[in-house]
Amino acid sequence: MFKSLFTSLSLLLIFLFQPFQQIIAQVSYPSVYENGVVTSAEKHASEAGLKILREGGNAIDAAVAVQFALAVTLPRAGNIGGGGFMVLHTADGEINTLDFREKAPSRATRDMYLDEDGEYISEMSKIGGLASGVPGTVDGMVTALERYGTLALEIVLEPAIQLAEKGYQLSHSQARSLNSAANRLREFEGSRQVFIKPDGTEWQAGDLFVQKDLADTLRRIASMGRRGFYSGVTARMIVDEMQRTGGIISLRDLRDYKSVWRDPVKANFKEFELYMMPPPSSGGVVIKQVLAMLDELEIDQFKFNSADYIHRMAEALRRSFADRNYWLGDPDFAGIPMERLTSEEYLFQRISNFDPEQATPSIDVSQGEFHAFQESDQTTHFNVADRFGNVVAVNTTLNGSFGSFVTVSGAGFLLNNEMDDFSAKPGEPNMFGLIGAEANAIEPGKRMLSSMSPTIALKNGEPFFAGGGAGGPRIITATLQNFLNAALFGMNANQAITAPRIHHQWLPDKLYVERLYFSSDTLQKLEGFGHDVDQIGNIALTHFILFEPENRMQGAADSRGDGHVAGY
Ligand code: GLY
Repeated sequence: MFKSLFTSLSLLLIFLFQPFQQIIAQVSYPSVYENGVVTSAEKHASEAGLKILREGGNAIDAAVAVQFALAVTLPRAGNIGGGGFMVLHTADGEINTLDFREKAPSRATRDMYLDEDGEYISEMSKIGGLASGVPGTVDGMVTALERYGTLALEIVLEPAIQLAEKGYQLSHSQARSLNSAANRLREFEGSRQVFIKPDGTEWQAGDLFVQKDLADTLRRIASMGRRGFYSGVTARMIVDEMQRTGGIISLRDLRDYKSVWRDPVKANFKEFELYMMPPPSSGGVVIKQVLAMLDELEIDQFKFNSADYIHRMAEALRRSFADRNYWLGDPDFAGIPMERLTSEEYLFQRISNFDPEQATPSIDVSQGEFHAFQESDQTTHFNVADRFGNVVAVNTTLNGSFGSFVTVSGAGFLLNNEMDDFSAKPGEPNMFGLIGAEANAIEPGKRMLSSMSPTIALKNGEPFFAGGGAGGPRIITATLQNFLNAALFGMNANQAITAPRIHHQWLPDKLYVERLYFSSDTLQKLEGFGHDVDQIGNIALTHFILFEPENRMQGAADSRGDGHVAGY
């Protein structure tokens, strides 16, 4: 303990008294793996993926194992009651993306969160049964495994089943996370049974956390596949819970849920090709737009995190988020002008009014109609790469921490509050100040817009980067910066993930920077350009893999959280 205290103090002193370029040079070189690596937000989950890789599974087998393990060991975000996105690159060079985002139930209506005076009742889309979309995770995992996996579902589910059945010892942060949500979780009987200690006391680090009902649900999935979740006993339990907690997901909604393979958004940037999630994720479109604008602004001519570098990044982000919030939604419902939004001609024109010495006020960038939607930072991301050359990046979430706080009684898993990612009412910014529009209004069967940004970048056709993160809209900017840190500045995985981050999302018109790590010269220069600089704590939690030549892999887990790299 004294050793780690001493290390932390030394690092703090180094950070306080040295320019960042020197600090970055001192960050340790990451371990390099030759056979496979998993980076996720939780140790047991990364180890579950590693076990599958060691037993001969490929990256897709291991990714499915990690997703199910996270449902057991990271209940606030890992899930079977939520949804997400997967981007994958196969050993033979195929790239594909899977959308297993939740859908609005068939009885959802546009104004379902408004009272009779048309006022938005914010809590209704966040807490309780009505906040949940139809979960997509189980269908997504089964679908991915069927198409690209090599092992049986029973095998990849076994680590998760064991973790739920036998339990695991809570870490400090796992105990803290459960305790911090206890008051809300207590409101729902199903959650009280699972997440509140029988004697009502707080969880402590080292407590054994056992989830027998969840183990049984996972066994039903292992033996019956999607039918073990979307019909039969589990589906009945979900619908019963809906009735107890005011929700509207029906047996038919569950039966009809289908994840969707979608063509990736592809961006070329210098010698890299990036493959990203298309709508209903906004990550791919924003990153593609920003990279094109940064290239036009010759971003590689500027020093890392200098005021001029950050100014260019912020101005590109500002313009892109304005488009994101107005144009993007579920492509199966909204007509999204993808070609125009991502064409070079449009993006060069979009950034043509950039002033190197003056921030552009957000109000001058776009004046689209304003509708509101909400996103949260309680998402999670993981990556797996194997020795064959398969690479998988998965962003998955319940939306808010512990989702709707509703646990399906007898089935032991939490349901999402993803309905809150829709535009619930015009003109109301969300908890992150994001402004949405018509394209993201609630409709039955529609998927809500997301910021989750699983990304795989290739260099000369070979994997270079696989990453994503947690943090609502900050996922997009953090993933972009992780990639640029490695691609433009040659940082290794530890350096790239440690580097201080900035964020801009058009509205509110603020330039967020991580507190402590930017010099007062830099901040003053940015303010001089007219940026409203706001120094905040951590910007996003990310995990990624960087590839060296010959498929040697560096794993990075964010020191801003409890991530874990497992490799061999
Ligand atoms: N629920 C957060 C997101 O999908 O971006």
